[in-house]
Amino acid sequence: SRFIALLPAAGSGSRMASSTPKQYLPLLGEPLMLHTLRALATVAQIEQVVVVLSPEDEWFDLVETALAAPGDHAHPGHAALAQKLRVLRCGGASRAETVRNGLRELASTLDAADWVLVHDAARPCLQAGDVIRLIDSLQSDPVGGLLAVPVADTLKRADAAERVATTVSREQLWRAQTPQMFRHGALLAALSSCADSNITDEASALEAQGLAPRLIMGSERNIKVTYPADLALATLYLQAATS
Ligand code: C5P
Repeated sequence: SRFIALLPAAGSGSRMASSTPKQYLPLLGEPLMLHTLRALATVAQIEQVVVVLSPEDEWFDLVETALAAPGDHAHPGHAALAQKLRVLRCGGASRAETVRNGLRELASTLDAADWVLVHDAARPCLQAGDVIRLIDSLQSDPVGGLLAVPVADTLKRADAAERVATTVSREQLWRAQTPQMFRHGALLAALSSCADSNITDEASALEAQGLAPRLIMGSERNIKVTYPADLALATLYLQAATS
């Protein structure tokens, strides 16, 4: 079977307090999403990098321009991305809808058994090594799974007055990241039979069907850029990766 990366990138980034959607904010002089796309394109097993935009998106030109005119220090993944990139404009109102629309559009070119690695456009610090470990660990798995990291902080459940009601044991708790890797047919079926409002990642759609996705150890560096301060952290991680 084949491996395809699918990036839902139709979000508005409302928590960033910026008029530019977060996936297009400048990061080391390039649109944030370009770093994300390149990280996936670098992985040899990944045949296609499919980005799913909102139909109203007027920003992707920034990525295409940067891709067409790489700077003096073009990233090694640049050429691979130019070959593997495919742009769909069928994003929806929720992340789940965006992914489902993308999967439907890909149905004519993929087999049900092909693997789809769904990755947040807003996780630009993804390292190829983590993607390769995910693929190697899951390619003969019956269900699939996701990158995740064990919870390091002590967790508190609050009452309505924001006082501690209980301490939640962090044992066996993980934070879900992306990529999340599932077979095209299984993922589309799962996303087609659950309410979007309950779904914040692809794994939860499969869980709702009684399946148990596998957790594959990821890296703390694979942050999701959500708040303005995250951009500074992403800059540091990317600089450390290239130096
Ligand atoms: O908002 P959040 O950070 O959870 O979004 C995660 C990913 O889902 C982002 O890459 C965002 O662009 C994407 N998304 C989407 N369509 C939506 C909402 C979010 O593709 N309607």
